[in-house]
Amino acid sequence: MTTAPGPTPAAPRETPEAPRAGDFPLIFERSKPGRRAAHPPKPDGESLQALLGAEHLRAAPPKLPEVSELELVRHYTGLAHRQMSIDGNFYPLGSCTMKYNPKVNEEAAKLFAELHPYADPDAVQGALELLYNLQRDLAEITGMDAVTLQPAAGAHGELTGILMIRAFHEHRGEGATRRVVIVPDSAHGTNPATATMVGYEVKEVPTAESGEVDLAAFRAALGPEVAAVMLTNPNTLGIFETNILEIARAAHEVGALLYYDGANANAIVGRARPGDMGFDVVHLNLHKTFTTPHGGGGPGTGPVGVKAHLRDFLPTPIIKKVATPEGERFDVDVDLPHSVGRMRSFYGNFGNLVRAYTYIRALGREGLRGVSSAAVLNANYLRVKLREAGFKIAFDRVNMHEFVAQPPAGVKTLDVAKALLDYGMHPMTVYFPLIVREAMMIEPTETESLETLDAFAAALADILRRAQEDPDALPNAPYTTPVRRLDEVKAARKPVLRYTP
Ligand SMILES: Cc1ncc(COP(=O)(O)O)c(C=O)c1O
Repeated sequence: MTTAPGPTPAAPRETPEAPRAGDFPLIFERSKPGRRAAHPPKPDGESLQALLGAEHLRAAPPKLPEVSELELVRHYTGLAHRQMSIDGNFYPLGSCTMKYNPKVNEEAAKLFAELHPYADPDAVQGALELLYNLQRDLAEITGMDAVTLQPAAGAHGELTGILMIRAFHEHRGEGATRRVVIVPDSAHGTNPATATMVGYEVKEVPTAESGEVDLAAFRAALGPEVAAVMLTNPNTLGIFETNILEIARAAHEVGALLYYDGANANAIVGRARPGDMGFDVVHLNLHKTFTTPHGGGGPGTGPVGVKAHLRDFLPTPIIKKVATPEGERFDVDVDLPHSVGRMRSFYGNFGNLVRAYTYIRALGREGLRGVSSAAVLNANYLRVKLREAGFKIAFDRVNMHEFVAQPPAGVKTLDVAKALLDYGMHPMTVYFPLIVREAMMIEPTETESLETLDAFAAALADILRRAQEDPDALPNAPYTTPVRRLDEVKAARKPVLRYTP
């Protein structure tokens, strides 16, 4: 078995006696009455009873696990070693962009850990300056005029953006007539979901043989009832929409606004700007493009940038710089004339904003260009390697930071993905985008070495060979992980999320 970091030689791991999930006890099962990992000081002064009132105190202590500090450390260290993680394993999730998060970002975020979000602006001028600078940097990077840092995920950014688009049309008296949002059939599910949540009808346009939006179908879908067009560029097939200027012109001609889903912005960062392509609104997934952590549903960050005509619709607060007789000062602007209101408490996921700012400052303009170059080069290198290994490439042309492959007939993508775990690698994104049969969506990212890319290609070639030699090999994989194949239906329908003795 290998879970060692770094490149792994391609070799099937055959350990039929794989450990069972139950071999690792729960923290509750390690519990022994009276053991303590922490000894909080006893409150001096008034008793809790006097402070809170006896009716607010528990009648009996909560059922918490009781373990020593060493047992606690061993428990979580043990769990961490059983994980596939970006710090330990290659993690080529297409569209999810799991790249390495530099540790200096963490150091920077720690500097602000003590700040309270209710602190008076005068007491936290440095933090506000950082937010202001980040707003400015993201506006510059995307080619937009103003930015909100509030949204807590890409999908939350989409909601913010489409709410602004709706407010914009309503303000112009077209709220009742513009009822449609256009999305390509390759779009991420969050795009149609967002449009629907905001009350729009979704019109889907097909993908052409080139992998780009079918231009004729797109033109046919346009009309005075269209409020917005939502596009990812490069799209979820990893292909750059070369007709983007034409698409923007056609959308604007009918009075629709163009929304940029920035989940794939790491493919163009430092090189091309959605603002220059004609987009009116853009969200960025800082947790993908600017190395802040994500996974498990958060904590993400999805700032939204807008062109000047949408500035007054931004959610508040926005951080502003004001001139005073004593010099410049940073403050929060809560007073925008047509604001869609507040989208999140306080200033957004502040720690992640610090991480993203650190990343941008550390790399600078040239460094960011380097990110997109390496991301695209790595993906194209792998695309060719996988074609040579016997995989089919959907829309086989020069791609951007990711591409979609398919296993040959008779081999299932799910089996390939599960088998990869035995090589110490996290599987790629599977069965997305929906328009590609048995899709394997692969994004190596720019932080991986040539050796790791070669090891991944070799592992996939080896998996194919095993599948062809022994039809039982893959359906039984993984062989070496602590948990093998889960009952996915049961996990979805009857999840056990809480320990009950
Ligand atoms: C193309 C695309 N759009 C939107 C999203 C949603 O972003 P988030 O997961 O930050 O909500 C994703 C996430 O994977 C994505 O890949």
